[in-house]
Amino acid sequence: MTSSLRIGIAGLGTVGTGVAKLLQGNKTLLAERAGAELELTAVSARSKQKSRDVVLSGIAWCDNALDMAQRSDVDILVETIGGAEGVARELVTTALQNGKHVVTANKALIAHHGVALAALAEKNGVQLAFEAAVAGGIPILQALRTGLAANSFKRVAGILNGTCNYILTTMQKEGREFDDVLADAQAKGYAEADPSFDIDGVDAAHKLAILASLAYGTKVALDALYIEGIRHITRADIAYAAELGYRIRLLGVATQAKEGISQRVHPCLVPADSPLGLTEGVFNAVQAEGDAVGRVLFQGRGAGGGPTASAVVSDLIAIARGERWPAFTFRTANLAEAVRVPMEKHRCGYYIRLTVADEPGVLADITKIFAAEKISVQSLIQHTHEDNMPAQVVITTHATLEEAMQRALNTIHALERIIEKPVMLRMEMV
Ligand SMILES: NC(=O)c1ccc[n+]([C@@H]2O[C@H](COP(=O)([O-])OP(=O)(O)OC[C@H]3O[C@@H](n4cnc5c(N)ncnc54)[C@H](OP(=O)(O)O)[C@@H]3O)[C@@H](O)[C@H]2O)c1
Repeated sequence: MTSSLRIGIAGLGTVGTGVAKLLQGNKTLLAERAGAELELTAVSARSKQKSRDVVLSGIAWCDNALDMAQRSDVDILVETIGGAEGVARELVTTALQNGKHVVTANKALIAHHGVALAALAEKNGVQLAFEAAVAGGIPILQALRTGLAANSFKRVAGILNGTCNYILTTMQKEGREFDDVLADAQAKGYAEADPSFDIDGVDAAHKLAILASLAYGTKVALDALYIEGIRHITRADIAYAAELGYRIRLLGVATQAKEGISQRVHPCLVPADSPLGLTEGVFNAVQAEGDAVGRVLFQGRGAGGGPTASAVVSDLIAIARGERWPAFTFRTANLAEAVRVPMEKHRCGYYIRLTVADEPGVLADITKIFAAEKISVQSLIQHTHEDNMPAQVVITTHATLEEAMQRALNTIHALERIIEKPVMLRMEMV
């Protein structure tokens, strides 16, 4: 062993502590794989007093994380503080300016400022790496960058948020409503006290924007994404979907559309026996579809100290080996502007649930409206309850343009015998 690479970790929470433990626990193995010793030289967190599940003796403590960007005994900065702004952004920017490599797990920072930071890294001849920012322990960025680099991608689709997947699969398995399962997830620590970032699809959107950039060479631009969360998913829709052979999953999907790269995060019905349908609980999965390779699936833990540290340390090893790559696979000057592809132009099959007065003739009215929009019905189930109670009509359609479906649903909603706003969910044949 001839060289050593000196590492500073800013942020010693779930991920930072996980990285420190992995560097210490697998020290010899990592040195052999990296061809250099990965030496932890400095750490920083808010509280020096907090007890942490890692040995920190002999490692310099920085009261101010920003000092790590200046230290001569830090070659690579690991940023695991979090947040798109504030200390994390300033620290990463200064470290890159000072010629230090940066490895981060911070998806919010990369989604908001990744392209500017990558340009700064290119200018200073250093590496910016963020494998851990997307799908935790799953090495999907590395796969898109290297193993799948020969392919033009038809679609990249994934379950990118473990909290949402836990909620949706628990609702299905236990027949419970959203609010009830969310409260339970919060009590178990699977969901934050303020869960909006996860359940409104923002976290998945950050990850999809990064994935799409690597797969298609577009700039990461959150305003190019359509984002819809899972708050409106009901136990009834999950049960009807299951009856039809589907599961409901929050997916992030990027595809090549006529107007540009379509990027969307929303709940979808997926076949129950598909790899994404079979991905349950807090697990993540990403399915990439290349023109040469076909479909390739990655599944694993998208969060947690160990899995996320696995991804961070893989970046450290790559840098120690002397590997250098454009952070988004394409050099920043070659990244294209991302455009927002309107959802009205999206084409897919739809799941529709209508609450209707249980009277003759309603179904005929509905099918007439669908026919006028050239929407072809694939299946129709009617669930009637007691006399005079509203009936539930569940319809799936063949692929249809979303603007036609929206027009049809507006007309249907205006019918006197339609009692509630129609429920519409998209289907994704993954
Ligand atoms: N948790 C996961 O499973 C996971 C998975 C993938 C990616 N990530 C990303 O990884 C990053 C870290 O997440 P985490 O879950 O490890 O967060 P966390 O447990 O909340 O840890 C954050 C750490 O940052 C420290 N910190 C906060 N403000 C600081 C400041 N001004 N100066 C120095 N240190 C400061 C905290 O110090 P104290 O300990 O003293 O409070 C804490 O050690 C985030 O960007 C997150 O999105 C997390």
